[in-house]
Amino acid sequence: MLGLTRTFPSTLLRPAAVPLEIEKLRVEFPTVDGAPKVAIRDLDLSVYTGEILGLVGESGAGKTTLARSIMNLPPPPGRVAAGFVRFSGINLLDLPERRLQQMRGRDISMIVPNPRGELNPLLSIGEQIANMARVHLGKDRASARKMALDMLNAVQIPDPARRMRAYPHELSGGMAQRVVIAAALICSPKFIISDDATSGLDVTVQAQILELLKTLARERHSAMLFITRDVGITAHFCDRVAVIYDGEIMEIAPREGFFLAPRHPYTVMLLAAFSHNPRLRRGWTMPRMQQARVDPAQNCVYVDRCPRAQSVCRRTKPQLIELAPSHFARCHFPVER
Ligand SMILES: Nc1ncnc2c1ncn2[C@@H]1O[C@H](COP(=O)(O)OP(=O)(O)O)[C@@H](O)[C@H]1O
Ligand SMILES: [Mg+2]
Repeated sequence: MLGLTRTFPSTLLRPAAVPLEIEKLRVEFPTVDGAPKVAIRDLDLSVYTGEILGLVGESGAGKTTLARSIMNLPPPPGRVAAGFVRFSGINLLDLPERRLQQMRGRDISMIVPNPRGELNPLLSIGEQIANMARVHLGKDRASARKMALDMLNAVQIPDPARRMRAYPHELSGGMAQRVVIAAALICSPKFIISDDATSGLDVTVQAQILELLKTLARERHSAMLFITRDVGITAHFCDRVAVIYDGEIMEIAPREGFFLAPRHPYTVMLLAAFSHNPRLRRGWTMPRMQQARVDPAQNCVYVDRCPRAQSVCRRTKPQLIELAPSHFARCHFPVER
């Protein structure tokens, strides 16, 4: 490319259809001492048609705040202070709440952990799933019921006709998560957000549900933002992987490049922390989080924990730079391949 390194986002790289494009998104929480805490810092992120994009980060990195801000619902008392979230070209942050309510569950669906908490304890699961099709797609009672039954089949719930009449308390955690997925996908949303959705389940159930979620998303050509604290899961599940740290994307790359040749020191540390290979772990222990930080708008947000940090990292914020095709990292001293 003319011998220049390009910074993200690059119009040249984008496939023609981008269902979701987040641009310069800034989300803040008010604090008692006046200056708001910035949870999402001028973040750019695109999710391409049909892809599963993994978003990995430690607890407190901003994953849930980002996920919820996409539909203009940051966790209270947070507020979107700036930026755009374009969905099929429309800025969702400009839409009236009524329009957004129509879109939630129909065009964009979110799956969260604690599935029982998401279900209405007083309604049979058949009714709850069918209601999505009635409200969002205007189906009549009979065809909505038929769609709900098909959906229970699709999420592999045994004896679905009988299960239609069951109530949430009669279901195991894994079954309840399947029901929530059925309700989330019945309208074939173009975009699915999964926020730590399987974290409460045991490992074998988690694997089955991930497999199911992936199959259903692919069949419906839905794109997905798949959020997790477990970088290991993304290796099997995602087409691309992004790392978030303190409200900023630190690295984003296609899966192969991400796992075979990670470039950001933080990614290397994350992968080593999750690795069972002692050779990989050596030299990449996790320094304790430092509290006192200089202005994160000016310096690298990872500087206090970074084994490669030099003085420039405290003076100049690194930009996301494309270091290999479609592989971006935000670092002055990226790890060599
Ligand atoms: N309800 C809240 N009130 C105040 N601050 C919050 C709230 N929710 C999140 N935050 C702030 O936003 C940051 C990101 O939180 P969150 O999005 O929940 O992270 P994650 O989902 O990655 O664990 C937190 O470190 C915290 O400072
Ligand atoms: Mg979270």
